[in-house]
Amino acid sequence: MVAMRQYQFASFGLDQLKITESEPPAPGPGEVAIDVRAFSLNYRDLLVVKGLYNPRLALPAVPVSDGAGVVASVGKGVTDVREGDRVMTQFVADWTDGPFEARHAGSTLGTPGPGLAAERVVLPERAVVPMPDGYDFAQASTFPIAALTAWSVLVTEGKIQEGQWALTLGTGGVSVFAVQLAKALGAKVIITSSSDDKLARAQSLGADHGINYNDNPRWDKAVLEITGGRGADVVVETAGIATMTTSMKATAAGGLIGVLGGVTGLSGEVQIAPLVMKRLRVVGVLVDSRAHFEELSAFLAEHSIEPVIDRKFRFDELPAALQHLESGGHFGKIVVEI
Ligand SMILES: NC(=O)c1ccc[n+]([C@@H]2O[C@H](COP(=O)([O-])OP(=O)(O)OC[C@H]3O[C@@H](n4cnc5c(N)ncnc54)[C@H](OP(=O)(O)O)[C@@H]3O)[C@@H](O)[C@H]2O)c1
Repeated sequence: MVAMRQYQFASFGLDQLKITESEPPAPGPGEVAIDVRAFSLNYRDLLVVKGLYNPRLALPAVPVSDGAGVVASVGKGVTDVREGDRVMTQFVADWTDGPFEARHAGSTLGTPGPGLAAERVVLPERAVVPMPDGYDFAQASTFPIAALTAWSVLVTEGKIQEGQWALTLGTGGVSVFAVQLAKALGAKVIITSSSDDKLARAQSLGADHGINYNDNPRWDKAVLEITGGRGADVVVETAGIATMTTSMKATAAGGLIGVLGGVTGLSGEVQIAPLVMKRLRVVGVLVDSRAHFEELSAFLAEHSIEPVIDRKFRFDELPAALQHLESGGHFGKIVVEI
């Protein structure tokens, strides 16, 4: 490769995304260079480019937080990764194993770490994970964030058991994986959406019940009815402040809410009575460690879980792909192929 293309933004806004050409980066000691073959979009990428994720972000920056590709070369001292390996990225690059630490937060890909909207990217060896067999690059690019976040709530934190109830909100990337994973784990699943068509699609993937949150603003009551008054054992809280109180009301006593997203906003009023009176556990989730990604990867392959890709775009269509994400019309993941 003599020159490589990447997206950069020098000021905030989707219209500020520009393709630039540069010399391909070479790996230093302990690093690997990856030819990116596909990346998937996460809601975070939209916020990063618009300046809503970190308004003080150092610019110019390269966006996009996860992807998959082929190892082009490895630096000195790299032992576990070889040229030609098919790999996925580990979003919290420095979080290899064990409990999350404050220092890990500064190592996320797609700012402040390297972004995947590039033909070649250099990452530390520890920030790549082998792709599971049986998946192509587009499919594998959906695993590092959306699938791993759903896994983090359901398994790492929720320890969901066969026969328990999972509740997941909306039909975006994380939530659709939550349906597929929860079913494969033997749980029962309730999903909410603004669209009856999307609910029908979620049910065809295995969701046991779908609730339209627009038609049914007190969807917590519907969850209690479906679960015989018990509530959901584990809640995948993707939607944020506007749904938090209702989510708590929909959770079983002692149940767990994995708070991970804020599509409806990050701050506002929350009622704490259901939290206290039901002794709920509310856990913040920032994807998961590399060790848990490896566990998830094996689980995906073992259960032949096929990611739901709403639409694929070409590299030069990234701004349009982000607009598609912003429109909320999608179901599952949006992928860009190189
Ligand atoms: N902390 C982490 O580790 C982590 C990891 C990944 C994602 N996230 C965050 O989690 C959220 C979801 O991410 P994503 O990538 O899955 O997003 P996405 O694909 O853009 O999906 C967003 C979905 O949210 C749903 N939604 C909007 N308003 C809702 C409401 N009031 N109630 C229920 N659902 C609602 C919509 O579903 P319908 O169209 O079906 O209504 C929409 O499709 C984002 O805030 C993202 O930043 C966090």
